Amino acid sequence: MHAYLLDQPSSTLTAAELASEGILHWVLPTDEANYTEPLQKIRDERGYISMDQVHLGASTPDLDTLLTKFFGEHLHTDEEIRFVVEGAGVFDLRNREDRWMRVHVSAGDLIIVPANKYHRFALDDHKTITCKRLFQDNSGWTPVPRFSP
Ligand code: LAC
Ligand code: NI
Repeated sequence: MHAYLLDQPSSTLTAAELASEGILHWVLPTDEANYTEPLQKIRDERGYISMDQVHLGASTPDLDTLLTKFFGEHLHTDEEIRFVVEGAGVFDLRNREDRWMRVHVSAGDLIIVPANKYHRFALDDHKTITCKRLFQDNSGWTPVPRFSP
């Protein structure tokens, strides 16, 4: 993980600074044999009852449409939890002063975006990511856009 203020690319945001904005982060092993147990521990501790896996890459139908959607600033009323299994991605998250914090995540990174935190998502130059999505319940997890389309 590497995090910085988007308008100040030479800055570095520490895990503690991210945590003060409610953003939690763990580094887990990248191979399934070794990440399964720590991932299960986090799931148990935080009550994530369901999980699925999504992939974005060259073979994804309508990739550009999806990416345009993900890059629109939005929030969720539940946490957004992502564990990166392969590839990489970029989360931009608004800090309390409404400045963008850019968090670059890659394989082994588990990030939790708190509920009601405006954010957007993009791929990086590698243009591929596979991540596990964890959920606290099976109901509404609808993006709420910040600006009307
Ligand atoms: C989501 C990410 C892309 O809402 O923010 O799925
Ligand atoms: Ni989101």
